[in-house]
Amino acid sequence: MADNLLKLEAQYFQLVEPRDLHIPPEDVLLQPAIQQALYERMFDESLPALPPAAYRTRVLKLITTLIEDAITDPDEDELNDNLMEAFGTLLAQPKPNSIELAQQLSSVKYTAPRESSESRPREVVTIESRGLILSGGTTGNRTWEAALHLGSFLATPEGDKLVRGKRVIELGAGTGFLSLFCARHLGVRSVVASDREPSLIANMQDCAVLNSDNECSLPFFPALWNWGTPLEISDDMPSLVENDMLSFDVALGADLIYDTDIIPLLLSTIEDLFENYHVKKFVISATLRNENTFQTFLDGCEQTNFRVEKIPYESIDSQSQSGFFHSTSIPIVTYQISKGGE
Ligand SMILES: C[S@@+](CC[C@H](N)C(=O)[O-])C[C@H]1O[C@@H](n2cnc3c(N)ncnc32)[C@H](O)[C@@H]1O
Repeated sequence: MADNLLKLEAQYFQLVEPRDLHIPPEDVLLQPAIQQALYERMFDESLPALPPAAYRTRVLKLITTLIEDAITDPDEDELNDNLMEAFGTLLAQPKPNSIELAQQLSSVKYTAPRESSESRPREVVTIESRGLILSGGTTGNRTWEAALHLGSFLATPEGDKLVRGKRVIELGAGTGFLSLFCARHLGVRSVVASDREPSLIANMQDCAVLNSDNECSLPFFPALWNWGTPLEISDDMPSLVENDMLSFDVALGADLIYDTDIIPLLLSTIEDLFENYHVKKFVISATLRNENTFQTFLDGCEQTNFRVEKIPYESIDSQSQSGFFHSTSIPIVTYQISKGGE
């Protein structure tokens, strides 16, 4: 019974658009135990970190409509009282306007598919404004598809090998999703989640607490880094400095190339990582909104004498999706870049 709802529950706490939700078929929805489980696991107001009320209302409206439409014999089947009451309570709440909705900060829980039926779910919680594309001069207030794609690749045995036991740095980490996943589930030695926006660094520090088990803090270090200037070493980072040097094994980046203007600075930053921070590999995922922009980056890598290899990983094929849920019709690619000759 529980398996019928696992995927829906994971998508719901990730605030996936209602039209993309994996809702069980009618015969399953009509089962009283399923309806009660839906209430207890998704709509009970006492649950921690529930999605915003407006989102819950949309999802519950969809589900209750499907159940009502499926009822052919009211003596036999019915809509669960708790679900009905939860829907009434949600409808009675004041509605935020569209600007308030877009700016609303919510906790978003991302769940990677289980490795086996016995294993525990691998979850990451971020705080983000799903509706904000650009705000306060940054695009980092929400987690982008390329980060979910790269997280999905790192969750595979091949991806895991790239980061497990390693000292990792992420560039333009935004909400910190990818670094948090590395710190919480992929056994990294440490991960520095860097970005140039102080508000994003403060947000990632709050997220570190949300993702930590009670006693044990994560090897996760948010740090200010505006490319072209020195990486700022925060108070908790001295433990990462060895022989007066800050060194990393691997660097990660997702959705950093959305504008050709940024490319020269990004290339010199990658060079800086190889030369001054001893990074061996830079793994980058990009959503190909404009193929020319990404090609300009690849050409720049070649001119800078970087070795570039495409990682043949697809998180979505025509049938299904592996990894973290994301919906985009635009292809996403992943490359690993190293210094030529190494
Ligand atoms: C589209 S967002 C991607 C965020 C995250 N990697 C993801 O995929 O969800 C780009 C991120 O790069 C950061 N960024 C852009 N230019 C930067 C620069 N010059 N130095 C440091 N970070 C930068 C932005 O602040 C933003 O967080």
